[in-house]
Amino acid sequence: MRVRVCGLREIPEGGMIRVDVRKKELLVAKVGGRVYVTDVKCTHEEGDLSLGIMSGEIVTCPLHGAKFKLSDGAVVEGPDGEPPETISALKTYRVVVEGEDIYIEE
Ligand code: FES
Repeated sequence: MRVRVCGLREIPEGGMIRVDVRKKELLVAKVGGRVYVTDVKCTHEEGDLSLGIMSGEIVTCPLHGAKFKLSDGAVVEGPDGEPPETISALKTYRVVVEGEDIYIEE
């Protein structure tokens, strides 16, 4: 099923926003013209990643600093500098951009 998330222009290049749609809490980010959609809640203690820092394809959680790769949700660094394997990867979604609209497929 395809679900519309938001408009392409709502996301600044190199930036991210939180979108709540159909009971899902999502992070939508744009890097180098590519769009990524992941869960917005950190897998450690549910920090809101949209309030964190984005640097290229890496988002850092505002609570304890875990770092995730937006492209595949992989943990780059665990909370408080712990090894990546201490927390789960972030869920990512298959993104389809059609015209000015961003959709996820599930
Ligand atoms: S809640 Fe994200 S690192 Fe702790």
